[in-house]
Amino acid sequence: MTVIRGATTIAEDTPEEIRGAVKELLEQIESRNFLKRDEVVSIVFSSTSDIHSFYPAKAAREAGFESCSLFSAQEPDIDGGLKLCIRVMLFVEKNETPRHVYLRGARALRKDVAQKFNVAIDGPAGSGKSTIAKMLARDYHILYLDTGAMYRACALACLRAQADVADEAQVCDLMRDVSLDIVYRDGVQHTLLDGEDVSEAIRAPEVSMAASTVSKHMSVRMKMVEKQREIAGKMSCVLDGRDIGTFVLPDADFKFFLTASVEVRAKRRADEMAAKGYKVDFSKLQEEIAARDEQDSTRKIAPLKCADDAILIDTSCMTAEEVLRTIKQKMQERI
Ligand code: DC
Repeated sequence: MTVIRGATTIAEDTPEEIRGAVKELLEQIESRNFLKRDEVVSIVFSSTSDIHSFYPAKAAREAGFESCSLFSAQEPDIDGGLKLCIRVMLFVEKNETPRHVYLRGARALRKDVAQKFNVAIDGPAGSGKSTIAKMLARDYHILYLDTGAMYRACALACLRAQADVADEAQVCDLMRDVSLDIVYRDGVQHTLLDGEDVSEAIRAPEVSMAASTVSKHMSVRMKMVEKQREIAGKMSCVLDGRDIGTFVLPDADFKFFLTASVEVRAKRRADEMAAKGYKVDFSKLQEEIAARDEQDSTRKIAPLKCADDAILIDTSCMTAEEVLRTIKQKMQERI
């Protein structure tokens, strides 16, 4: 016995829409799984609570699924869940790997469903993005792409070459001669500048503000964004940054924007820096974070901003585990 899952959405709650969507979904499931009608033992539908006008099971019967048992149920109304959605589970007499089918914007997020998806996590420095993004990537067995590392690498190249980070032409000239690569070793991102692993060097305090400054330049952003889209286009990943949900991947499957008070963020950064052996002047760090927020959110191109369709989470009084739990819950609600 094999279980095949699927989901689809309808534009409005009418019998015609339901008939059309169910027929299309079942036909797609049949053709993608090379199913014969008599192999289908039973079909179970569930639909969101905003669907009242017709039973999906009746639509299946009308579509020609006559000899199997059919059942429809209504799902609880979950805040933030997909609207007007019909989900299905087919029990079939076959022992093959199922090909699950998700149509019309219905998304899947199950470890047993091989479907590519991207998660955008944006927010200011110290909001907890990278900690959460790493945990999420680990739990879903997908890639974590730290986009800030790219701007940091560019800034480091400039600082080393004593180029003026505020001068776009100088930065651009320099970056033409430098190769910047992102590689993964044992699932961990490494940032390479001309082949040198600079993953640690880019975390130096002086690199932070310089990264914010180089990131204002259009030519730099376009280069970085192209790389980010290329990586995200190939595989499921969690990307953290400032403009992922608004600019890099406006169609990301899941979008979150993390924030926290400047004091909390500065404290987190200070602890991080101290753990790495840097001497930290807390009030200076707080000022620097505030200045970086200002520069990142007021720049002309792709500023730091919460996307209209992102879920905003204030992490000031939350532990990393609590934030992770909240994000996973929100993601599961949308499946
Ligand atoms: O997340 P971070 O502190 O490593 O980022 C360093 C700087 O890079 C940040 O101040 C602004 C810039 N940045 C950006 O403009 N867009 C991104 N997607 C990521 C970072």
